Amino acid sequence: MNRITVLGAGTMGRGIAQVAATAGHSVVLHDLDPAALDGARAKIEKTLAGGVERGKLTPAERDRALAGIAYEADFATSLAHADFVIEAVVEKLEVKKDLFGRAEGMVGEDTVLASNTSSLPITKIAGDLARPERVIGMHFFNPVHIMSLVEVVVGRETSPSVKERTLELVSTLGKEPVVVNDAPGFASSRLGIVLGLEAMRMVEQGVASPRDIDRAMELGYRHPMGPLRLTDLVGLDVRLSIAEALSRELDGDQYRPPEILRRLVAEGKLGKKSGEGFYRWDE
Ligand SMILES: NC(=O)c1ccc[n+]([C@@H]2O[C@H](COP(=O)([O-])OP(=O)(O)OC[C@H]3O[C@@H](n4cnc5c(N)ncnc54)[C@H](O)[C@@H]3O)[C@@H](O)[C@H]2O)c1
Repeated sequence: MNRITVLGAGTMGRGIAQVAATAGHSVVLHDLDPAALDGARAKIEKTLAGGVERGKLTPAERDRALAGIAYEADFATSLAHADFVIEAVVEKLEVKKDLFGRAEGMVGEDTVLASNTSSLPITKIAGDLARPERVIGMHFFNPVHIMSLVEVVVGRETSPSVKERTLELVSTLGKEPVVVNDAPGFASSRLGIVLGLEAMRMVEQGVASPRDIDRAMELGYRHPMGPLRLTDLVGLDVRLSIAEALSRELDGDQYRPPEILRRLVAEGKLGKKSGEGFYRWDE
């Protein structure tokens, strides 16, 4: 059992807090916005109630998980006694650096500082700290209580013992870790984006329809979902910004965003959230 402080109570933070408390850890969830904490509490209660209805949890397990999360608006108070701090605040390097910079002086010698960043270099997040060896990436996937993967991202300075403790924590959460050295896009985004962008280039070149390209991967390669449908779910704007970031940081034409992606985003066709992307979602 660990004492885990989760910073940021948005989509990911509340999911991580829920999964950690369900696994029996003692969790403090912090956000600077009190409304986000109230929203997180309501969402966690709803998701755990759904788990009981579907027979995934017993009422006693739900009650234990609910009792295992404290909601704390004060930053310093939230950090007292933490073995692990997992940050899931906005995807901005300066915000994450500032947060860990302030946290470092308030936590114990052995506290691990983990970031759920989906794209920022762990080595840069750790860069200005007195002890960068305690920083590591824990990249969860959305929705956290359903997706089993956690990418454990090892920064240039991350110590072997921090890596081992993080892998142990991931396994107590019932998740499957993969270990990736700090590199743009880690493993999941870098590979996933190349498949998605190539599928878009195939649509552009009239090779096949989005539906047929997706079915080829679903039936031929046993992907649960084709790359274009997945792009619609993630959001075309999100995929475009990842592609732009990767093509800035890595050599290779394969990361260059195709014209069709830029055009659809400019037209406001962002995928499921806007009603249309490579598919129409409003029918
Ligand atoms: N949404 C996803 O599918 C997904 C998947 C994997 C990783 N991530 C990463 O997880 C992180 C969080 O993403 P999200 O989708 O949960 O964001 P979100 O916008 O839903 O939540 C972010 C929360 O952080 C809070 N916050 C911002 N600055 C803060 C600060 N200084 N201190 C305390 N709280 C602060 C905000 O009030 C907000 O409640 C990002 O780094 C993102 O890249 C997101």
